[in-house]
Amino acid sequence: LNISIIGVPLDLGQSRRGVDMGPSAIRYAGAVERIEAIGHQVIDEGDIRVDMSSRGQHGDSNLKNLDEVIQANTDLAKKVAEVVERGRFPLVLGGDHSIAIGTLAGLADKYKNLGVIWYDAHADLNTAETSPSGNIHGMPLAVSIGLGHESLVNLYRDGQKVKPENVVIIGARSVDPGERELIKEKGIKVFTMHEIDRDGMTTVIENVIAYLRSRDVDGVHLSLDLDGLDPIYAPGVGTPVPGGINYRESHLAMEMLEDCGMITSVEFVEVNPTLDVKNKTGDVAVRLMGSLFGEKLL
Ligand code: ARG
Ligand code: MN
Ligand code: MN
Ligand code: MN
Repeated sequence: LNISIIGVPLDLGQSRRGVDMGPSAIRYAGAVERIEAIGHQVIDEGDIRVDMSSRGQHGDSNLKNLDEVIQANTDLAKKVAEVVERGRFPLVLGGDHSIAIGTLAGLADKYKNLGVIWYDAHADLNTAETSPSGNIHGMPLAVSIGLGHESLVNLYRDGQKVKPENVVIIGARSVDPGERELIKEKGIKVFTMHEIDRDGMTTVIENVIAYLRSRDVDGVHLSLDLDGLDPIYAPGVGTPVPGGINYRESHLAMEMLEDCGMITSVEFVEVNPTLDVKNKTGDVAVRLMGSLFGEKLL
């Protein structure tokens, strides 16, 4: 693959500082070297510029730092679209999960029937009306299917970027009441921790792949929130939830996704080195990249 790394040092989509250092932590853990060693060609495109000058000084308390989130995501969408246009594979490093708004908007230029795998403890399907926190990182999946504040929904290009029936959530274990209703209403496919425990990760990923094939998708974006993993393996995240996906299950999932050959873009988000233990979470992100990009033991 010809991979382009895009860093997004944005922490304004949530309320804890430090996730803006996620791209540095993942680079420091050796992302470029690890992927190049597999045989891929990598260009580090650097970071999207984020305006931090007015943090917390204005804006709606149900949509915290809206202006700054829009600015960074608009720039990110342009960059992702340009990278895809150049025939390259985007690997986006967050930053908080609000950056998925920009990534998916940029991907929508090329992919008209994109599949999305949302690997996360959360559904990120809130709107300003249903959000318990006002944090935009809890809203990107809702925005991308066309629901929420119009300035987010119409960011970079107008309207829905992804069809709700092309979305699969894996690892959910913290879902707010408004999100639960939306999942039912839109028929969004969710594999919660219950399905992972009951059926095993092998069956879950087989089902995910079969489902996305049945949707006849023209590409698949993997949006990997490190809090999808159990906090034992990924402690450096702002919204940890116990009872998560373990290290081996996560590697297996990445290996199976690599084998299916459907993944066309990836993002790793929510790595917060200030909450981490010796960059453990940045490290696990890079190890998972190894499996996802085809590292083989034998
Ligand atoms: N559901 C909660 C909220 O809306 C938590 C969201 C956490 N999202 C994340 N990307 N880590 O605030
Ligand atoms: Mn401003
Ligand atoms: Mn998330
Ligand atoms: Mn999450």
